[in-house]
Amino acid sequence: MIFRNFCYRICQGVLLQVMHIIRYNNKVISGRETIYWIPDMLEKQNIKNVLIITGPNIVKSAVFNKIISIFKKKGLKFTVFYGTSTETGIESVERARKLYFTKGCGAIIAIGGGSVIDCAKAAAAGIANPNKSINSLLGYQKVKRKIPVIVAVPATAGTGAEVTACAVIKDINGNKKIIADTRISPQYAVLDPIMTESLSKNLIAYTSMDALTHATESYINKYSLKKARTDAETAVKLIVKNIMSVYYQDGKVSSRKNMLKASYLAGRAFMRTSLGYVHSISHAIGGRYDLPHGMVVSIVLPYVLEWYGRCIYKKLAKLSDITGLSKYGMTKTQKATTYINFIKMLNHRFGIDSSFYKALADKTNNGGISKKDITNISKRAIAEANPYYPVPKIMSLRECKYLVRIILNSSSAIPSI
Ligand SMILES: [Fe+2]
Repeated sequence: MIFRNFCYRICQGVLLQVMHIIRYNNKVISGRETIYWIPDMLEKQNIKNVLIITGPNIVKSAVFNKIISIFKKKGLKFTVFYGTSTETGIESVERARKLYFTKGCGAIIAIGGGSVIDCAKAAAAGIANPNKSINSLLGYQKVKRKIPVIVAVPATAGTGAEVTACAVIKDINGNKKIIADTRISPQYAVLDPIMTESLSKNLIAYTSMDALTHATESYINKYSLKKARTDAETAVKLIVKNIMSVYYQDGKVSSRKNMLKASYLAGRAFMRTSLGYVHSISHAIGGRYDLPHGMVVSIVLPYVLEWYGRCIYKKLAKLSDITGLSKYGMTKTQKATTYINFIKMLNHRFGIDSSFYKALADKTNNGGISKKDITNISKRAIAEANPYYPVPKIMSLRECKYLVRIILNSSSAIPSI
């Protein structure tokens, strides 16, 4: 086991050196109503014809109608594709790519949540490789060519899809697969708080907690880069400061703007230092029971942090300090525990814990979690994380099974802070 862990660390160290070299040249435009600047941005680049990829709800919104009227006023050509709803399938990506070519487009505007932006990134990968099927581009670093300009306008604050260099899409069998290539990161991210004005409370909770998980997981990883740690710290500070205001929809534009910034920074942080067992276990649980990603990571996060134990106390204590959660005289251990308890408190306050266990009971017809499920989930989680994720402590399959069993069979007792 010692030799195995040593080999994993070597592999992670090499990957970190690669991440060091990669430059991300995303440009960020942030502020209220900045979405309406897009036609001007395109004109400046001499782009006169675009494919707009969005979701069915956004197409009906006043913001969308307004941007379309600006396009028309300026004489810019556009084609709207809104076949993407909650998850992007490979057929949607193929249709978007075909539309791009048949309409002679020169850029893609993606307006929506993570799945919409992922559809745009996957379609752009296909446009750069017109002779290859989207299916053949699934995997790592297979794009190899420059993609068309993508302007990403996130309509949720959480996934970080507007900056990350991967796209999650469902293959023809309905299995989630990824296209991961540094070339597919969108060139522009427009962070406009007008886009997150009317989200449901559940969506706000899930996406905000997803962003907090991205920042926390990337921050505690064993190998990380200073700029990624700085991004993660800023993201955590912004989330802790603004999450309640955004969740209770007190109407503050600055809070929603800050959450969009936090989501972007958390995405940029995990692009550089990767994720960990919270995400690998959550992907496996979410995939098995078809549960929302943000809901599952929120539940899994405190369990995995507690499992890591002492080796992450110093970093969690720092997060506790910079967010003002620490109290005078607390030890490092107490500060770390305070940070974990804060996450549990948020899960409880937002009703995520009760929703998760209720949804799980519904999916299993109250029949309990089978041993086979626990084994399969654990195998998938370990296969995703090891050896690539530079986690603070390496988990074995046996340990993963133990943790997954606890997570799936746990009640939701919440300590006070
Ligand atoms: Fe996530």
